[in-house]
Amino acid sequence: MLIAPSLLSADFGNLERDVLMLNHSEADWLHIDVMDGVFVPNISFGLPVCQAIQKTAKKPMDVHLMIVKPENYVAAFKDAGADYISVHYEACTHLHRTLQQIKQLGCKAGVAINPHTPVSLLEEVIEHTDLVCMMSVNPGFGGQKFIERTYKKIEQLKEIIIRNSADTLIEIDGGVNLHNAPLLKAAGADVLVAGSFVFGAASPKDTIAALKKV
Ligand code: DX5
Ligand code: ZN
Repeated sequence: MLIAPSLLSADFGNLERDVLMLNHSEADWLHIDVMDGVFVPNISFGLPVCQAIQKTAKKPMDVHLMIVKPENYVAAFKDAGADYISVHYEACTHLHRTLQQIKQLGCKAGVAINPHTPVSLLEEVIEHTDLVCMMSVNPGFGGQKFIERTYKKIEQLKEIIIRNSADTLIEIDGGVNLHNAPLLKAAGADVLVAGSFVFGAASPKDTIAALKKV
């Protein structure tokens, strides 16, 4: 599985140090959580911080947009270094169009779904979706408890991907740790996001290595 540590739990006063640590770790991607205080009840950071990360990051930047009207900002996030851009199903009236827009920019297109959103709603867009960011907590905050129904949703999504001959990656975001990682892998997850579990550890680098070994 690919491991994508979330910089939401990094030390923002020492962001360059933490990005350098990720460069030298076994992390595959950098997960970047953008929150607008409207789509989610929290504000994290936006374009200037992404640009700052881009200057140091040596790995793909996986940008998770928890914002309303993401179609207005995808080009700016591409310019700020995004390789993957995920928009929320719940925030997109014209999701099909927004996915095309992301691909036309040369980025990989992702759809994020809240815990209450059934995976069956992705059937019509799955062939245009490079990544599904399945929320295993309600978006907005790090350090929340993993929602157990996620395993079932992964299995259902895998079935949709196979049935449509798509090559979509399944990413799990929220409450990931070494206890649930093997179960997520067995259910069919391809990418694990981990924020507080990595940055709250005595050695974030060793924790990433341990997740990578699962
Ligand atoms: C939550 C974010 C997550 C968050 C995960 O809204 O999308 O990426 O950083 O944090 P943990 O791993 O602490 O649940
Ligand atoms: Zn995220």
